[in-house]
Amino acid sequence: MAAFLRLALLCVSVVVLRASDDPVAVAIGHAKAHPQGEVPASFVAADYRGDLRDLPIGVFESGVGGLTVLEALKAHDRHDNRTGKAGADGVPDFAGERFVYFGDQANMPYGNYSAVGRTDFLRELILRDVLFLLGRRHARGAKPPVKAIVIACNTATAYGLEDIRAAVKAWGLPVIVVGVVEAGAQGLAETAGDSQGGVAVLATVGTCASNAYPKALAKVTARPVLQLGSATLAAAIEGDPSVRTPIRDIIRADVGAFLRSAAADKAEPIDTLMLGCTHYPLVAEEISAAFGYWRDHETDGRKPYAALVAKELKQVNPAAWTAEALWRSLQAAQMLAVTKSSAGDLFYISVPNPAWPGVGLAADGSLSYEYKYGRQPEQVGREDTINVPMTLEKLPGATAKLVREKLPLTWRSLQSAR
Ligand code: DGL
Repeated sequence: MAAFLRLALLCVSVVVLRASDDPVAVAIGHAKAHPQGEVPASFVAADYRGDLRDLPIGVFESGVGGLTVLEALKAHDRHDNRTGKAGADGVPDFAGERFVYFGDQANMPYGNYSAVGRTDFLRELILRDVLFLLGRRHARGAKPPVKAIVIACNTATAYGLEDIRAAVKAWGLPVIVVGVVEAGAQGLAETAGDSQGGVAVLATVGTCASNAYPKALAKVTARPVLQLGSATLAAAIEGDPSVRTPIRDIIRADVGAFLRSAAADKAEPIDTLMLGCTHYPLVAEEISAAFGYWRDHETDGRKPYAALVAKELKQVNPAAWTAEALWRSLQAAQMLAVTKSSAGDLFYISVPNPAWPGVGLAADGSLSYEYKYGRQPEQVGREDTINVPMTLEKLPGATAKLVREKLPLTWRSLQSAR
């Protein structure tokens, strides 16, 4: 009996040890232990017990890329707002809603954590993002809790969607969770379903390594899927000063390398581009132009990629289908807002916290590469980065220009944000 008990205790402790290694278990336990939301990475449990309908919708990303999803949410009009029936009525479907946006810019690029073996840490970052949105605090004051979480980042969807759903369930929250990858697959099925050509998924290195798109696309199409992972494009769009190559040259080089390897593999001709990173719609024209450049590129009197790239290239941006998935989930759960909010959207961004013990900073004040990619999980409440209101002045000039030119609804909302 004693031996049996000892064995049972050993098994329990092994399970506990395993559980504590898991960033999801750590985040779940941390938030459960602080139901008053009094510490970082926690929320007020009582906020989620009443009527959630008039709470805002949370949207998060590693930086500004998720603003392309926010734009699609704000523009979405596929339903009659009074009856809920299908068909645009000239009034955006989310006209009555308010959004809380968070970009974890201090910890980005998310797409590079997998290459250095830090996906567990990335999963913890993603859960911290969710806890921030669920909670009531930012570094300078109060923020509202949210009734839904839109993962406006492909990398975060690839590595975090299941974790977030598991955590929300464990916390017993009736919060809706929507990601962009399944929505992208749905978008492909609806807009480019008839084609037989190859689909090139353009994404971060991390999203490609996760194989989230090939898996999601296999459910809706038998078309060949190829992946192009870029290690620097999202950071360049974000205005990261350590990336000095111009955006157009990064895209051209990435597409050239991708086509060289596709040609060597005798891949099927490509006629559809999946914009599998939420930063990429901001440079959609440059992406098409790069494929065009290589299609027409001549070397030794021949055009090696002419047969590999279709003349008409269709682009699929998952954002509009993400908006539709969110609308349907809120409608099904009867959680669309009942009182139109007069308050504007809220925007937050993470910044390094020099006061945190041991934090490693680069000369420009950002987290140093070694520090950023050297961290281990299990400190979900760490504050080496803190979340502060994001204003237009915090965006580098070139990034602000992209947002102003490509995302007019979001730009307007950001202009009035404080
Ligand atoms: N925009 C993000 C995505 O959709 C990735 C950017 C990053 O690497 O942080 O995957």
